[in-house]
Amino acid sequence: MTDPIVAFDVRPDEMDDIYRCATSRNCEIVTRPASLSAAVLADVPHTDAISILGNSKVDADVMKMLADRGVRYLSTRTVGFDHIDLDAAREYGVKVAHVMYPPNSVAEYTVMLILMTLRRMKLVMHRAGIQDFSLVGSQGKELGNSTVGIIGTGRIGTMVAELVKPFGSRILAYDPLPKDSLQGVVEYVDFDTLMRESDLVTLHAPAAPENHHMINAEAIKKMQPGSVIVNCGRGDLIEPEALIAALESGHLAGAALDVVENDLDYFHRDVRFGTIRHRNLVLLRSFPNVLVTPHIAFYTREVVSAMVEQSVDSLLELRKNGSSSFDVN
Ligand code: COI
Repeated sequence: MTDPIVAFDVRPDEMDDIYRCATSRNCEIVTRPASLSAAVLADVPHTDAISILGNSKVDADVMKMLADRGVRYLSTRTVGFDHIDLDAAREYGVKVAHVMYPPNSVAEYTVMLILMTLRRMKLVMHRAGIQDFSLVGSQGKELGNSTVGIIGTGRIGTMVAELVKPFGSRILAYDPLPKDSLQGVVEYVDFDTLMRESDLVTLHAPAAPENHHMINAEAIKKMQPGSVIVNCGRGDLIEPEALIAALESGHLAGAALDVVENDLDYFHRDVRFGTIRHRNLVLLRSFPNVLVTPHIAFYTREVVSAMVEQSVDSLLELRKNGSSSFDVN
């Protein structure tokens, strides 16, 4: 008998797609809302194939535990895989796969945050909600008259460039691997030039160790006074203390952050009545010119279906062929 696939971190909105996949692929999928841990793993049927979200942190100890229990294939229903220790996966012989859902959801959301930041929408909406219809402090800047700096021109950064282009903005881009297909859309420049010349910097680089805190005090100092940052990439691209200092001093005019460092400790959960032990998140949320959203740029009907489908398919493919189209190791 074939082992079931066991999926952790499962949200209710994923269940329809999970049933659909189990039926159409003729496989059993056991689901758990909890994140992966020794306790929940002890409570599920034996399996060689596991699917998780970013809420499950798979460090070397967890990876060893998985391997000891016969898990050979691990798929994350996310594009990012910075929550998985790939060295440990190699050491313990666990094959890891991720998903590559279309970039549209995050790219469209980024453009929305770009416009909302330039038009000071947090302040405008808050005021309108309390019947303060005054204009003071709400004057915006036009996107078409702005220089937009895109850091990272992978699939999402590329789509952001293509969506922003018709507004008429000057678009600068920085990426160690420039793309020929973006000729005529962006002007590739070095990191310092991008930081110096952009009115708005939007981050789409992966959470690789070399990108950790790439937006630090030194980088922010290079930015023009009054410029803004948008981050729909990964929280740890920005050194939060440096961002907070630049907002406090007024050097930066604002930010829109769909991600902050260690955001999944709190995001995607209702913590209204809990204590938030994440001072940077609390501080950032408190600024009238900083829009914080809960790592939700990905969250569309289309993407949730793709996340589930691709994760299940890669586990089935790994079982059959030992490799899949979405392998990361
Ligand atoms: C990803 O797919 O990498 C994401 O950032 C979305 C995830 C947090 C559900």
